[in-house]
Parts: sequence; C-alpha cells; structure tokens
Amino acid sequence: MSLQPLTIALSKGRILDDTLPLFAEAGIVPAEDINKSRKLIFDTNHEHIKLVVIRATDVPTYVEYGAADMGVAGKDVLMEYGSNGLYEPLDLNIARCRLMTAALKDAVEPKGRLKVATKFVNVAKRYYAEQGRQADIIKLYGGMELAPIMGLADVIVDIVDTGNTLKANGLEARDLIAPISSRLVVGQAAMKMKHKQIQPILEQLAAAVARRR
Ligand code: ATP
Ligand code: PRP
Repeated sequence: MSLQPLTIALSKGRILDDTLPLFAEAGIVPAEDINKSRKLIFDTNHEHIKLVVIRATDVPTYVEYGAADMGVAGKDVLMEYGSNGLYEPLDLNIARCRLMTAALKDAVEPKGRLKVATKFVNVAKRYYAEQGRQADIIKLYGGMELAPIMGLADVIVDIVDTGNTLKANGLEARDLIAPISSRLVVGQAAMKMKHKQIQPILEQLAAAVARRR
C-alpha cells in the first residue's frame, strides 16, 4: 500500500537552522539545500514527505487548518496562538530561550496601570491577569527593547537568550514567564487520519532528541 502524502511545516529563520540537523538525525532530509533556494515547498528523501518553510508565526495556522499535517514552532508562538486544533506531542529541545518581562535597568515599576509593549499580546494579557496586575498591552512587531527607552512602555515581554540585546539597550530581565523551546505540533485531523504515518516520524524524532541528551 502506498503511503498518503504528508506535509511538515517548518519555521524559517533561527529555528530552521536547528531543525534541519535534527530532522537529518531522524532520517528526514530535504532533496535540495533549503537555505540556497527561494522555493517554499521541498521534496525529501521520503517520497511521501514534503517540507514547507514558512514564517514561524504562520506554522500553527497551517497545521490547525490541516494545510500541513505537522509542524515545528517555538513554544512562544504556540502560547500566543493557543492550542485549538493542535497536539503538541514532542519537545524538540532546540532554539531554547526564555520568555521574560524586562525593563530599563534599575527602573521602578509604576504603582498604577503598567504599560507593556510586546508582540506576545495574548501571553502578556494572560500573564498580568494571573498576577492580578492591571496592564495596558501595546502591540509591537519587533525591536521591543526600544519601547521603554522611548517612554512608550514601562515593561516589555520578549524572548531572552544571552541577555545581550537587553544589556546593549540598557534594559534588564525581570520575571520569567516561560522557558521556551521548539515543539513538534500535529493537527488533530491529521493525527486521526494519518496516524500510521505520523507515529514513526514522531518516534524517530523522539529518538533523535533523546540521543542528544
Ligand atoms: P519573524 O521573522 O517571523 O518575524 P522572528 O524574527 O521572531 O519571526 P526568529 O528570530 O527566527 O523569528 O525567531 C523564531 C523563534 O526562535 C522564536 O519564536 C523563538 O521560539 C526562537 N527564538 C527567538 N529568539 C531566540 C534566541 N535569541 N535564542 C533562541 N531562540 C530564539
Ligand atoms: C531575539 C529576541 C531578542 C533577542 C534575544 O531577536 O527578540 O531581541 O533575540 O537574544 P539575546 O538575549 O541572546 O540577545 P532576534 O535576534 O531573533 O531578532 P528579531 O528582533 O528579528 O526577533
């Protein structure tokens, strides 16, 4: 019996650099060099498996709607998107960083409402609601570190890895919201309809992750 086609959506950029070696260790290799191509869809060494390479924030959308069967996305992106229609069966343990609050070094937080700039609007709303802290969330699309410097916000919610970006801009990390790594996501429909094909891929990836520990 021939295998049903299977599409895996990969986050481009930083996560892709960590994803491709891990997939290779799990026996899934693109048919050409993804980084040297302008194409968005790639064949692999498995006739039935295709890879699509898209913006990190679009991965959960493709998988939820079943346009892709599986995907790789940062936990930050998944927390922001929500878990509707998605299973998250495997922590790939790549692109590790932290989602944190940060503010200007030594700045004292205002007593009243807090102004928070972030691209993680849903995460920030949830976080400050859980803290019982009144917060106005201001949506930005990048360069969050600038917001406190320019007086746009008291605090930012952003990714921190080495802390160099914060430091270079006179900010400091404050509270940890969540440790982040990239996860394998599977669409609920795909999990039902293509379980037989998805299961071995899950197992091979899980084994590759385990070998690295
Ligand atoms: P886009 O280009 O789509 O706007 P982006 O600039 O956030 O997205 P990347 O910087 O490639 O894209 O980050 C994608 C993901 O990589 C994030 O969602 C997060 O999970 C992870 N990530 C971001 N920054 C770091 C970092 N400094 N160290 C490790 N992982 C990171
Ligand atoms: C990410 C993130 C932080 C930075 C943190 O930005 O948004 O700005 O990395 O890493 P650090 O703690 O090691 O400095 P990225 O470099 O991906 O650029 P971006 O602004 O395009 O997201």
